[in-house]
Amino acid sequence: MYIDHIHLDGYRNYQNADISFSEGINIITGGNAQGKTNLLEAISYLSSARSFRIRGDKSIINLNSDNFRIKAHIVAQGRESNIEIISKRTGRKQIYVNGIWQKTSAGLSGRFNTVLFCPEDLQLIKGSAGERRRFMDAAICQLRPKYAAALSEFTRLYEHKTRILKDHREKNSLLSVLDDFNIRIAKVSSEIIIHRALWCKRLNEIAPAIHGDITNGSEKLTLQYKTIKTMEDPSALNRQQIFQALMEDQIAHKFIELDAGQCLSGAHKDNIMICIDGNEARIFASQGQARTAALSLKLAEREINYNDCGEYPVLLLDDVLSELDSVRQDFVLNRITDGQVFITCCEGSELTEKTNGNIITVKQGAII
Ligand SMILES: Nc1ncnc2c1ncn2[C@@H]1O[C@H](COP(=O)(O)OP(=O)(O)OP(=O)(O)O)[C@@H](O)[C@H]1O
Ligand SMILES: [Mg+2]
Repeated sequence: MYIDHIHLDGYRNYQNADISFSEGINIITGGNAQGKTNLLEAISYLSSARSFRIRGDKSIINLNSDNFRIKAHIVAQGRESNIEIISKRTGRKQIYVNGIWQKTSAGLSGRFNTVLFCPEDLQLIKGSAGERRRFMDAAICQLRPKYAAALSEFTRLYEHKTRILKDHREKNSLLSVLDDFNIRIAKVSSEIIIHRALWCKRLNEIAPAIHGDITNGSEKLTLQYKTIKTMEDPSALNRQQIFQALMEDQIAHKFIELDAGQCLSGAHKDNIMICIDGNEARIFASQGQARTAALSLKLAEREINYNDCGEYPVLLLDDVLSELDSVRQDFVLNRITDGQVFITCCEGSELTEKTNGNIITVKQGAII
C-alpha cells in the first residue's frame, strides 16, 4: 500500500502543492515551521478524514482560505484509486473515492492505512485511558468499516443518553426512553468490545517481542484490555454474554447515573493496561521506557495491519528518530525495510546521509 502523489490546496501552510513520493522510504526535511509535520498530517488525514493533531478541521484550513482540498493517488492491493477530501469553514466535509461521494468517513476505512509515530505518543503510555482508546479505535477503524460505524453509532447514543441523564429532572418524560437507550447502547457496545478485545489480544502477541528486541531483552512489556469490571476476559466471551454483562452493569448503575447526570457504565471508559516488568507503565515508566513502549505498540499495530491486509500500512514517523540513540535508530530503520515510510527530520540531520530514500525538502509550504 502506498501513496504516490498528493495535491494540497489550502491545507495549513500549503497553498497549492503537488508532491510525488517514492514507494519506499521518503525523508521529509527542512527547517523548523516549514511544513514537515503538516505534510505528514495531510497524508494521515487520508486514512480517517481526521487530523492526528487536533479535533475538527477549522485550524487546518489555511488562514487565508475558506476551505482545504486534499487529492491523492494511492495504490492498495495492486489497485489504484483516488481519494479527494474537501473541508469548508462552513458546511460538512465531502469525501470522494474514485469520484464517488462517501456518506461518512467510514467510507475510507481499509482503503489507505497509516500508522503514525510522533513525539506526543508518549501520552499513549503516560496519558489517560482516553489516549489508549483513541489509539485502538483509530487502528481498528482502519481495518474494520463495521467498527467505525459502530463507534459513531455509540457516540450518538452516548450523547443522547447523557442528555437524558442531565435533563430528566426538568423533563420527567425523558425517562420513558432510557431503558430503550440502554439496550441499544449495550448492543453497539458489544460489537465494539468484541473488536477491541480481539485486537488487544493480537497486540499482546506482537508488541512484547518488539519491545524485547529494542531493549535487548532487558524489559518485559505486557498489555491487557480492560472494560467494565464484571468482564475479566472479554476475549473469552461471545456477543450475547458481553451484551448480558453490559445490560447488568447498566442496570446496577441506573440510579447512580440518574443522580450523577452522566453515563458511568459502558465502553467509553475502556483502557489498555500497559505494564513494564509487571509495573503499570503510566505511573512507573521513565521517559525513555515510555517512548520505547509507545514505539513498540506502533510497530506492532503495523504488523497487525500487515497480517490482516497482506500489505504494510504506510508508516509515518514524525521527528522521532532524532530522539533515539543511534542503536535504536538503526533498529527502527532495519525493522522497516518493507512498505512505504515517511520520516521527517530537521535540515542537516545525518539521517539524510544514512538513507538511500527519496529526499523531499520543504520550505514555507512548498517543495524545493
Ligand atoms: N491553518 C494554517 N494556515 C496557515 N499556516 C498554518 C496553519 N496551521 C499551521 N500553520 C503553520 O504551518 C507552519 C509549519 O508547521 P509544521 O508543524 O508543519 O512545521 P514543521 O516543519 O514540522 O516544523 P518543526 O521542525 O518545528 O516540527 C507553522 O509555522 C504553522 O504556524
Ligand atoms: Mg514538525
